[in-house]
Amino acid sequence: MKRGLTITIDGPAGSGKSTIAKLVARRLNYLYIDTGAMYRAVTWKALQEKIDLKDEEVLVRLAQRTEILLKKAGDGLEVYVDGQNVTGEIRLPQVTNNVFYLARLAGVRERMVKLQREMGEEGGVVVEGRDIGTVVFPRADYKFYLDASLQERTRRRFEELRSQGHKVELNEIGEEIKARDGEDKGRRIAPLKIAEGAIVIDSTEMRIEEEVSAILKYIREN
Ligand code: CDP
Repeated sequence: MKRGLTITIDGPAGSGKSTIAKLVARRLNYLYIDTGAMYRAVTWKALQEKIDLKDEEVLVRLAQRTEILLKKAGDGLEVYVDGQNVTGEIRLPQVTNNVFYLARLAGVRERMVKLQREMGEEGGVVVEGRDIGTVVFPRADYKFYLDASLQERTRRRFEELRSQGHKVELNEIGEEIKARDGEDKGRRIAPLKIAEGAIVIDSTEMRIEEEVSAILKYIREN
């Protein structure tokens, strides 16, 4: 017996996936799964161990031996790597800018996808990432693809980092997001794209509550 529906949300950086996925999960009393946090977690560990990020074999082995735990905490998630809480550290620019070295490797993705399927196999989940509707749960009950203009996504990420006390430059954030869009959409394995059957939502001019309502309404009515 399934615990509930499987809902996937994909989209580029700053499209609001995490915020929206979290709120939708809360409203449905579902589990929220942030798959980007998992790629960030392995990247964090690779940096800790000073692994050569071009050494594919070593990175794949690292992904295989790393224990990643997503733990519900209040409205969000806490992320643990081998028992250590890395929730804050995996958001640092150094991690963000190096995730692509791992995210492009088939062996790393295989391991992540396996873990993600295990977490979501009983349903009752909102799973968020880049390849969730295309690769991880292609038969999901509902698929959404969130997007927004580059300018708006840059603004959101800038505000988010500033509110956390980071000193950041607007144009640097813009460049970083543009580069990451390119890596995510251009990679050979599991690139970011609109999944078959996904509902596309452009949130450039939408408020968060509006977007959450639109998603819940669609689910109720279809
Ligand atoms: O929060 P933001 O959208 O900036 O990024 P994230 O969702 O935390 O994901 C960080 C990076 O992990 C992405 O830029 C992707 O390269 C990678 N990722 C992926 O390859 N596949 C996923 N399902 C999720 C993230």
